[in-house]
Amino acid sequence: MSIQIISKGPFDGQKPGTSGLRKKTRVFMEPGYLECFVQATLNAIGGAEGKTFVIGGDGRFFNREAIQTMLKMAAANGAAKVIVGQGGLLSTPAVSNLIRQNKTDGGFVLSASHNPGGINADFGVKYNVSNGGPAPENITQAMFEQTQTISEYRILEAADVDLSTLGFAQIGEMQVEIIDPVTDYQALMAQLFDFDKIRALFAGGFTMRFDAMHAVTGPYATAILEGALGAPAGTVINAVPSEDFGGGHPDPNPVWAKVLMDEMMSDTAPDFGAASDGDGDRNMIVGRGAYVTPSDSLAVLAANAHLAPGYKAGLAGVARSMPTSAASDKVAERLGLGCFETPTGWKFFGNLLDAGKVTLCGEESAGTGSDHVREKDGLWAVLLWLNILAERGQSVGEIMADHWATYGRNYYSRHDYEAVPVEAANALMQGVRDQLDAAPGTTHGGLVITSADEFSYHDPVDGSVSHNQGLRIGFEGEGRAVLRLSGTGTEGATLRVYLEQYAPAEADHGLSPDVALKAVRDAVLSITDMQERIGRTDPDVKT
Ligand code: G1P
Ligand code: ZN
Repeated sequence: MSIQIISKGPFDGQKPGTSGLRKKTRVFMEPGYLECFVQATLNAIGGAEGKTFVIGGDGRFFNREAIQTMLKMAAANGAAKVIVGQGGLLSTPAVSNLIRQNKTDGGFVLSASHNPGGINADFGVKYNVSNGGPAPENITQAMFEQTQTISEYRILEAADVDLSTLGFAQIGEMQVEIIDPVTDYQALMAQLFDFDKIRALFAGGFTMRFDAMHAVTGPYATAILEGALGAPAGTVINAVPSEDFGGGHPDPNPVWAKVLMDEMMSDTAPDFGAASDGDGDRNMIVGRGAYVTPSDSLAVLAANAHLAPGYKAGLAGVARSMPTSAASDKVAERLGLGCFETPTGWKFFGNLLDAGKVTLCGEESAGTGSDHVREKDGLWAVLLWLNILAERGQSVGEIMADHWATYGRNYYSRHDYEAVPVEAANALMQGVRDQLDAAPGTTHGGLVITSADEFSYHDPVDGSVSHNQGLRIGFEGEGRAVLRLSGTGTEGATLRVYLEQYAPAEADHGLSPDVALKAVRDAVLSITDMQERIGRTDPDVKT
């Protein structure tokens, strides 16, 4: 066994984004590519000498090979120990939990989240730090700088480790512990939720469908829902992780989880439906005939979390990303909870959670989580919903109606315009930016603008400021539109338009979102000059 020091491979030095580095699988497979990124990461954190890490992925194509490479690199860089999920599998929230529980120095998640997998699809690697959360800006910046200057990587010439057998293995001087991916995560969920109560719910005939979308939550959901909680076999579908997610997008929304949506809207719908994404951090919640938007889900969870044992003391506060609807603000206001609005991306929640300022947080893009880990957590959200359903003894539809009658309804929809030429997208944004100061008091599409600004976030914990986080336009009657360009799109620019209209507690809550949001949408088309700027007004995806 010898350490090889290999001179720089082909690395184009792309800056890791909020979710680590995501690329085509074939790019990651180029000789030296993965290696250079991993070495750059290890260099950026001051080396691996004597350190302990967690490594696991969502099971997509190249997962196992990448883990073998990373183990040999960790060993060559002097790491003391790596904890790996059996078969190379670990969900993102499970990695976050293992980092925290074992007090490791950090961990790697191999995933491109909800992007498709396979040799012709996507792969990714993200690095999480010792609090269990995504690497903060100073570390991703250091990683980027390393990728620009890296001249060699270190790898041990050694045989592959057998990841199929639980227990300990050795690679060079480094210990490898192969653990069951589910056990520790399940124990954490059992602490937070009333498993007896949920078991009784299922025993009483409550029916559910959980679509694991051929991704990593399959084993977790099967063990917890069908195993520990006694839901009938078949409750979890698409439960075996596959390298290409059955050829689909493992993205839990009404578009990609259409089969589940159709079932939930049919006459034979079960009581409750849910889905999770590739790496298990996103969730979709749907009742019989009742889709719950992620923004509403966050609000309902905030209003009812105290019904679950892990949150019975109440919540310190609730945080939402800026484009997420203000439904959770309504709950926070009434319950006297701290209320925070952060830029898009999970990393901004970390400081608030670490400082004990918030207990729950969430994004409109189907991420919900709490202080139990430092990542969003799909199955956690599903279990909290189940605990609430068990305690309240009402259907999802009844809970929603009750919620809106108490707090009012924030009608909400996100419209995505994909593959927009970058210059046109930038010009559209600049066009709105130029109007911000003069906009209040003007009328667009029949609505009077009451406020307009570009969102800057002042982190109340570390004092840092993040500028240019999206354009916000407020309208009379509590309407709101947000415009921003995606940071994760892959082709051209993706323009995201977030539409929101509040309807007070006593108003009609039965409108279709398209109808309720028509005025705000017309105003957006007018103020952006969308047809002129990008040559169309119909979005590619509406969620
Ligand atoms: C998208 C979502 C955002 C999420 C991110 C990573 O980012 O909108 O909420 O945190 O993916 O999962 P965007 O493409 O909008 O920059
Ligand atoms: Zn994800």
